[in-house]
Amino acid sequence: MEYNEILTAIAAEIAPLRGVGRQADYIPALAKVNPDRFGICLTTTDGSEIGLGDIDEPFSIQSVTKVFSLGMALSHMGEELWRRVGKEPSGSAFNSLIDLELDHGVPRNPFINAGAIVVSDILMSCLAYPEADYLAFVRLLADDDSVDYNREVASSEREKGYVNAAIANMLKYYGNLDNDIEAVLRFYFLQCSVEMSCRQLSRAFLPFADRHKEFVYGDVKLSYSQVKRINAIMQTCGFYNDAGEYSYLVGLPGKSGVGGGIGAVSPGRYAVATWSPRLNSKGNSVMGMKVLELLTTHTHESIF
Ligand code: DON
Repeated sequence: MEYNEILTAIAAEIAPLRGVGRQADYIPALAKVNPDRFGICLTTTDGSEIGLGDIDEPFSIQSVTKVFSLGMALSHMGEELWRRVGKEPSGSAFNSLIDLELDHGVPRNPFINAGAIVVSDILMSCLAYPEADYLAFVRLLADDDSVDYNREVASSEREKGYVNAAIANMLKYYGNLDNDIEAVLRFYFLQCSVEMSCRQLSRAFLPFADRHKEFVYGDVKLSYSQVKRINAIMQTCGFYNDAGEYSYLVGLPGKSGVGGGIGAVSPGRYAVATWSPRLNSKGNSVMGMKVLELLTTHTHESIF
């Protein structure tokens, strides 16, 4: 497949979307980013890398990190994890509190904030050094030791993180948080603050696309079935209340973040990362979604 030519054609097709959407500003540090950055990088299972635009500039991956967190928690806890968090799409905003009360403190899935906060709590209980172990895992996935947290982003989010604090308090009330609320929130925000470029993110998603290489990164080991299931949850829950629209348009398991990044996989073929900070009303990158839609349209390689 001539991905290079396809990406060049797509870059021209998305030009009319320049300036559409607004970057996230509820996390003060994210408001400073140039909203017109754009990059896409594709890493194939046979090792090629095809990129276009700002592919080496690190950005805040935000909720894309929830895929790595789920992988790590599933590796340590196995199916028991699903006693504490569901695997159904929520149809609600990423930071919604409503479902959590209706469901008595069991978040609908691990990719909404409530679910990721429970996953953070699980990781804090399983890992000897949660901050260091998590970062080491993400670095191994990206095959790059320069990947790091941005502590300024994490603390600026904590300062304004009233809704996430409410979610954590409700989880504690329902007995679904073992560790100290403040410590769990800090760890959750730190995971969201990881910075990666499109190239690094695309490499880090490759293990979720590669059906032949064993998923073993340090002591995180996932079976083929577990990877399949993480991809399924990306497909159904990775874009919150836009998950149906994303599936309809794109047809690749993927996960978005309010930093404007998306990580996605074409199982057996490639992983792809896009970055464009302007978001739609559901908090997903406008250009990122369009680029992926055009990618599966031009390549005829969606999972459907
Ligand atoms: O919890 C938050 O609000 C952020 N740290 C992450 C949210 C996010 O990226 C949602 N994605 N579209």
